[in-house]
Amino acid sequence: MKYLFLNHKMNFNKDEACSYFESLNKIDFQDINVCVFPSYTNIFLANSNKYSVGSQNVSCYSNGSYTGDISSSQIASMGCKYCLIGHSERRKIFRESNEDIRLKLNNLKNDNVIPVLCVGEVRKEERYSTLIEQLDVIANLDIDNLVIAYEPVYSIGTGVVLKNKELEEVILWIREYVESIYDKDCLILYGGSVNDENIKSISSISSLDGFLIGKASLDIEKVKNMIGVISNG
Ligand code: PGA
Repeated sequence: MKYLFLNHKMNFNKDEACSYFESLNKIDFQDINVCVFPSYTNIFLANSNKYSVGSQNVSCYSNGSYTGDISSSQIASMGCKYCLIGHSERRKIFRESNEDIRLKLNNLKNDNVIPVLCVGEVRKEERYSTLIEQLDVIANLDIDNLVIAYEPVYSIGTGVVLKNKELEEVILWIREYVESIYDKDCLILYGGSVNDENIKSISSISSLDGFLIGKASLDIEKVKNMIGVISNG
């Protein structure tokens, strides 16, 4: 089973989102597990039992006077199965720390929302030290389900994708490291400039469970093509 997670980021107004979801619903997902991460304002528009819905973010706080924030219990009550945390855009632009991410993890755990922890280095030379720092937030975490999305920052939105051999090495390293600090199995996705042209080659990496797609997820034809490729692969 491959997972295709579609991160809309801050795109689509209400009408655009409605027509996107209408088209998405017509796609035959075959055995692919699809989850869409729309803006908060569009979550209620994603109304289908063919795919799941996730949140792009969650508050560090559980409830109360935090103007503009959305809590884990609120996203759970909107039907979100997953929630992205630690996306590099949040780490960089919004200065989110690993301590913030730890708090988010705990809130998601309490509300039974599956975290999708995004990790990835800014520079290749700092790959493993960065990954250790970012992955250590899950040490001894008592949750049953966890997804890790490996997204090297220099690959996001740039067209730069690691060669399969290198990517496979990193995925195996992550799997082993996660096993050593978190007592259960987790899914590992790759993200960063994945599209309908390169997904076939990357999906030959058998240790990879799926993909987190940004830009290409906004184009429904590309989504359809990507599903076609990975469901046959
Ligand atoms: P991209 O984004 O596919 O546009 O590179 C991926 C992501 O940010 O999750």
